[in-house]
Amino acid sequence: MLAKLRYEILFTLVDSNQNILEGHFNFIISLAEQCFLNEYVFAQSKKEINHVNQLTNKIVNNKKINELEMAILGCYIPLHTSKNITNKLLDYKSKNILFNDLITMQIKEPLKETELVNSIKSFSKIFDAVSKKVREQYEEHPYPRWRYAYKNLPSNFLFQLNHEIKPNKIEYSNKFVNPNVLIAGCGTGRHTTMAERYLNANILGVDLSLVSLAYAKRKTEESGFKNIEFLHADILQLKNLNRKFDVIECVGALHHMKDPLTGLKVLLDLLEPHGFLKLGLYSEISRQHIVKAREFIKEKKFKNTIEDIRNFRESIVKEKDDQLLQKIFNINDFYSISMARDLMFHVQEHRFTLPEISKMLKNLNLKFLSFDDPLIKKEFSKIFPNDKKNISLDNWNQFEISNPDTFSNMYQFWVRKIKKI
Ligand SMILES: C[S@@+](CC[C@H](N)C(=O)[O-])C[C@H]1O[C@@H](n2cnc3c(N)ncnc32)[C@H](O)[C@@H]1O
Repeated sequence: MLAKLRYEILFTLVDSNQNILEGHFNFIISLAEQCFLNEYVFAQSKKEINHVNQLTNKIVNNKKINELEMAILGCYIPLHTSKNITNKLLDYKSKNILFNDLITMQIKEPLKETELVNSIKSFSKIFDAVSKKVREQYEEHPYPRWRYAYKNLPSNFLFQLNHEIKPNKIEYSNKFVNPNVLIAGCGTGRHTTMAERYLNANILGVDLSLVSLAYAKRKTEESGFKNIEFLHADILQLKNLNRKFDVIECVGALHHMKDPLTGLKVLLDLLEPHGFLKLGLYSEISRQHIVKAREFIKEKKFKNTIEDIRNFRESIVKEKDDQLLQKIFNINDFYSISMARDLMFHVQEHRFTLPEISKMLKNLNLKFLSFDDPLIKKEFSKIFPNDKKNISLDNWNQFEISNPDTFSNMYQFWVRKIKKI
């Protein structure tokens, strides 16, 4: 629907009916913002592309600024990709605050991120072949492109943890008054921002992608947080970091490594004996529709380019009889380029089952504390009322087999080291 509206707007302009569009100027600006945020995921026809090229030339050659034309162009391409347009708009002030907001989003923020890339420290070179490929993906398409994050009032880490691991519970300890927190694979910083809920925390966000970290740093500066640092590094290299952490969170990164177990061992070496680790790993059972999509992508030879991601999205709309593929429309990540790429076009993906996770935790001497989602625990408790703390992974495995969509948002859970006696 938005793609159709965009088409109509462009061709109303082409037909010289600018006056009709002027009444919808604010909507057009909002559409340009939406298209930028979803990284131009809507398909563009050859006819549209031709007219967009002509519109770009017209805008570039016009000494004056036509706000309506700029906003329509911003529905098709990010305005900062033209140097001429960037120079025209950088110090421009419109009477329309929404248009000024569009300039901030499509010109000023991307420029700020380019500037910030140089301010982020790199820990060491990235050697691992898979890490290099994964890095390339997130340099091209940082994930997630977010605008707003939930803000919780900060409180002691153990208070927050006990809330997340209910009905399980951890004894109070004074080791978490100023916790050192590592967010491994922090992406664009939504995750580090969420760690602000831990009172007096010193937070380190690490990621393979400098472009993602620059996005993270911009968002952090905008929020005025002073306790978050960023480091460009491969988790594999962190074995030489020489620092220890009270809390480590690694959600959505280990399953993109060549060998997640090696990455996990590095993180455990960085975790204090009293520390807590949160992991987020893909579920084999919950991702069967993604497995199907990945097979479809391979079979039809779609590449991980913007054009092919758009073409793929158009093609699966036609696969009406395929129940698994149709499930993909219900996932938020289908609706932006970086997210669709992360979801279905990833260069490296491991999936786990609960028996595999259980075995891995046992071998590493780790104690499972809880999944973090209160709603699934509520459902689980109805079926397994005797598992009072909700911690038997055998029970959880049975639960997942009967409810295969339970962990569609990954297995996200807390563990701690088992104390040596
Ligand atoms: C799906 S994103 C998740 C980002 C973040 N944890 C969140 O939940 O918003 C995965 C991130 O992990 C990073 N990553 C993957 N493998 C990594 C590695 N070996 N070392 C450091 N970061 C890695 C990627 O660059 C990417 O930004």
